[in-house]
Amino acid sequence: MKITVVGAGAVGATCADNIIRRELCQELVLLDIKEGFAEGKALDMTQTSSLLGFNTKITGSTNDYSKTAGSAVAVITSGIPRKPGMTREELIGINAGIVKNVCENLLKHSPDCIIVVISNPMDTMTYLSLKSTKLPKHRIIGMGGILDSARFKTYLQMAIGGSQDDLQASVIGGHGDTTMIPLTRLATYQGQPVSNLLSSEVLAKVAADTMVGGATLTAMLGTSAWYAPGAAGAALVESIVRDQKKVFPCSVMLEGEYGQSDICLGVPVVIGKNGWERIIELELNDEEKALFAKSGDAVRNMNNVLDTLSI
Ligand code: LAC
Repeated sequence: MKITVVGAGAVGATCADNIIRRELCQELVLLDIKEGFAEGKALDMTQTSSLLGFNTKITGSTNDYSKTAGSAVAVITSGIPRKPGMTREELIGINAGIVKNVCENLLKHSPDCIIVVISNPMDTMTYLSLKSTKLPKHRIIGMGGILDSARFKTYLQMAIGGSQDDLQASVIGGHGDTTMIPLTRLATYQGQPVSNLLSSEVLAKVAADTMVGGATLTAMLGTSAWYAPGAAGAALVESIVRDQKKVFPCSVMLEGEYGQSDICLGVPVVIGKNGWERIIELELNDEEKALFAKSGDAVRNMNNVLDTLSI
């Protein structure tokens, strides 16, 4: 079993690091366009093998996709990250061409692979990947909702105390500062609604902090975050390669579900060896349905920008 991570920047390298530590494959290929960079990261990671106790072979490659041949899963992190003050959406002009090209190259050598998209603006990059490759919809999964849900759990835990393990909390909708929808009504701590434990003001603050979770970190770090995005990507890969059937909110092609069609948006899906296997239809109330529709409008507008780009 081989897994490829395209883009050896902070998110890609962290995702790769999490994958090898969990021994999710025999070989991990890390690929980047910057000369020698992926090879360097691969060598550095290989030198953690005896310290961390894993046996995965790690191969670095400067844009040589033949090394990725036969990958079961490929994670795309390529493109530029956002700078402080930028939205994810502002990256579309540069990242769209990169992601399209990466998909083409990957499929030349791994025609059966499942593609995980992390590059931003993620929902639109997922949509573009699907449209440009014409792969069956179950094989393209956008990673955003897992990360946003992890941030939601972090802010909930900071407010409630206790352990994040005891929380069930999901973020659906787009992976954007204004398009994501933290489902506060459905979030639970040890089976009881978090609204039993937190005031509506605190809960509203938790939701607001979650929505700008990425932007907050970008302002602090000077570039976008990587530990949680990398770990979230690896959790998704793990559910695929171990066929765990975990339910994660991911950006997938909707065909009528949640009242949306011809769009990739974050909804809870079962993740297993075939990619995303089933959409879980949550019973949203009218307010949540309206937010989801609004999120869909914003992401659709962004998808329409693809037609104006010469890629
Ligand atoms: C973030 C980027 C990876 O949310 O989208 O940190």
